Amino acid sequence: MRIESQVALITGASSGIGQALAAELSQRGARLALTARSITPQAPHLIVPGDLTSPDFRRHLIETTLAHYGRIDILINNAGVGLYQPSWQADDAAVRHMFELNVFAPVHLAQLTVPGMRERHHGMVVNIGSIASKVTLPWFTLYSATKHALESFTDGLRMENADAGLQAMLVCPGYVKTKFQQNVLVGRPPDELASGRRFATTAPALARAIADGIARDRRQVLHPAAGWALVAGWRTVPLLIERVFQKLQRDHQ
Ligand SMILES: NC(=O)c1ccc[n+]([C@@H]2O[C@H](COP(=O)([O-])OP(=O)(O)OC[C@H]3O[C@@H](n4cnc5c(N)ncnc54)[C@H](OP(=O)(O)O)[C@@H]3O)[C@@H](O)[C@H]2O)c1
Repeated sequence: MRIESQVALITGASSGIGQALAAELSQRGARLALTARSITPQAPHLIVPGDLTSPDFRRHLIETTLAHYGRIDILINNAGVGLYQPSWQADDAAVRHMFELNVFAPVHLAQLTVPGMRERHHGMVVNIGSIASKVTLPWFTLYSATKHALESFTDGLRMENADAGLQAMLVCPGYVKTKFQQNVLVGRPPDELASGRRFATTAPALARAIADGIARDRRQVLHPAAGWALVAGWRTVPLLIERVFQKLQRDHQ
């Protein structure tokens, strides 16, 4: 999809990947609606602060954006949060919060946006998943479950709406240098994972890859590309990868 003059709504735009995406899409000529709980005014963009775990706020966000711009061409579901707790011990309120933000908010925002896109035979939904959409990380089991759900949702949404000319794209970042780790709801990752951070990418580099993916109507963006090695290992030698992951998780407990 051409980015110039398109109306893009970006969630989680106050920091990290969402903030970098706003800068990248703005530079490529998009008109932006930005949201997060703590976002500050940024002319000329429309800013709609609020908590995406609230269905009422989600409706207000879409109504305000449509009242301002008249349409939404690109919906980018980026806001998300993590939780480092074993699934069988995880705090119920934290699990529900994470699923509400990572899964139910993107589904609801798409439900509020896609009918208008279908009428205009024009639009794209971009869901920010993770390498954890492809590979289950045992120190991050329920976070992985939310990101797997987002992958199925994205693929199904694309097939459901291909007849109306819409596109849906899943983004699977590896480790990105943002405040994501500080913002997790509970827990911390295994220390050994620190060595994997040498493969980390930056939010501006990922934002460029996402914008290129939008411009080329891609189904999926996996960045950095080194992540494909892990995905290939998970598909071809799953028991080996499981043993490595089990050891990492065991040493962590
Ligand atoms: N960083 C990584 O290594 C990595 C890797 C793979 C995937 N991801 C995914 O990338 C996305 C962005 O993460 P990030 O790395 O940019 O993390 P981040 O810096 O923590 O940004 C998260 C964004 O979500 C917003 N947010 C959090 N809770 C919210 C709520 N209840 N209502 C509305 N907005 C809320 C935050 O803004 P406020 O706090 O102001 O509300 C912030 O703008 C997430 O979906 C994450 O799962 C990240």
